[in-house]
Amino acid sequence: MGKNSRAKAQARAARERGDISVRPAKDRDSDAYNSLMPLAIPTNEFHELSRTMAEEAEYKRLGAGTMMHLVAERRGEVIGVLFASPPWTWIASHPALPDVKSKREIAKLIARINGLAVAPSERSKGAGGALLRSAEIAYRNAGYRIILVNHDADLAAYYERMGYVYGGHGKPVIFPTGAGLVVQSVDAGLDFSWKALKPEITMSHVAGIGSVLNQVVPGFSVP
Ligand SMILES: CC(C)(COP(=O)(O)OP(=O)(O)OC[C@H]1O[C@@H](n2cnc3c(N)ncnc32)[C@H](O)[C@@H]1OP(=O)(O)O)[C@@H](O)C(=O)NCCC(=O)NCCS
Repeated sequence: MGKNSRAKAQARAARERGDISVRPAKDRDSDAYNSLMPLAIPTNEFHELSRTMAEEAEYKRLGAGTMMHLVAERRGEVIGVLFASPPWTWIASHPALPDVKSKREIAKLIARINGLAVAPSERSKGAGGALLRSAEIAYRNAGYRIILVNHDADLAAYYERMGYVYGGHGKPVIFPTGAGLVVQSVDAGLDFSWKALKPEITMSHVAGIGSVLNQVVPGFSVP
């Protein structure tokens, strides 16, 4: 691409970025949401908007933290979607978190991007970044301390570009807590990355254990 056409393409991308807005998904977004989300999660039936919105009501009842369904729009058209929540299924069944109170506390600290997808014709115009930023701001404002994402290896560079730290491939992720070390396994074949919403959070690699995320639960870390 020549200098002039590159400058024109950059100017167009900047204009289009300015046209993008992000808002919570509504029932009426179901068709667009359900057609985009499978681009991120091929086995998508559990991520259909109506299902996860119903699940959201259940999260509220259980005190399982904040679920988020967002859409990115350009001139009234939905061009991207994001679904995030605390990893409640893992938290709820974790043996080191015996009581509901400790489970609820963890669910108010850790959020996870479960799905992020932008329509192929709308990529590289900032929609993915805008969705991630909106989720990060909302979670930070809700008191969350970290956002996790499990992803295919070819997306490590994308998340790094979006300010995430690469955490490793298929290794367990460990959170020091008042109840000891709480281990989350990453799905087989996937990488994981994370973004701190508080500056004191750090990662250390402990031989034979895995990647430890310190200070996610305030005051708890592995030396
Ligand atoms: C990943 C995805 C959401 C990015 O959305 P997007 O709207 O294009 O993202 P942004 O416009 O904010 O950022 C795009 C930038 O990241 C770069 N990028 C995109 N995918 C990348 C990758 N796999 N590795 C490195 N960089 C990547 C683009 O080249 C672009 O850079 P440019 O502006 O210099 O062209 C989109 O490509 C997508 O829907 N992919 C399929 C679904 C998926 O894999 N989702 C993530 C798993 S949950």
